[in-house]
Amino acid sequence: MKLPNYLRKRRGLLQIKKKNKWENWNPFHSKLSAYVLAGGENWPFQKNSKILYLGSAEGNTISYLSEICKTNTITAVEISSVAMAELMPIVKEKKNIIPCLFDAHFPEKYRIQANNPEIIYQDIAQRDQVDIFLRNCEYFKPKYGYLMLKTQSIASKEKNIFEDTEERLKKYFDLVERVNIHKWAKGHSAYYMH
Ligand SMILES: C[S@@+](CC[C@H](N)C(=O)[O-])C[C@H]1O[C@@H](n2cnc3c(N)ncnc32)[C@H](O)[C@@H]1O
Repeated sequence: MKLPNYLRKRRGLLQIKKKNKWENWNPFHSKLSAYVLAGGENWPFQKNSKILYLGSAEGNTISYLSEICKTNTITAVEISSVAMAELMPIVKEKKNIIPCLFDAHFPEKYRIQANNPEIIYQDIAQRDQVDIFLRNCEYFKPKYGYLMLKTQSIASKEKNIFEDTEERLKKYFDLVERVNIHKWAKGHSAYYMH
């Protein structure tokens, strides 16, 4: 992929330009950085992209996306009040993050805050993570999706979790890309789709 001008790879690291200075974007703390380093081919994020982010935690990845997509909003859905409390300083600083203390199983609860997202990004290590993602895609019909899939979290006897996941994702999206990010996030693969 041709990287946007604010990203570059140097000595095996991903760097992002902030106020004319290059900073490392740690792939061990952000699976999106790992996706790029692992050779991910797609980057749909534009200045005015509207994002629905499921499983925001304390906001490591969100803090980058809020700067990349600075003229629109990121709706951050998180089930843990402890993680949400840790996100609040970033919410205060960045101004374009809408915090939502909700369970991502129920998209109708944050429908108003999410307001027609163009991109859904999910990083939730739950057994039914694919169901959660598809339920949100069905509800919001985004143009692009990222699913950070933790295979160890799926209690399935099926031989090929990837085949099954891809088949399900392909019902909603024309293109589905899978990138192995195990090197930085144990047991994870990054799915991009549009
Ligand atoms: C691996 S962390 C996310 C890390 C974050 N995406 C980042 O890159 O900075 C997963 C988060 O998903 C949250 N989570 C788990 N189940 C959830 C659900 N049903 N709805 C919303 N959030 C959930 C957890 O509380 C946790 O904070």
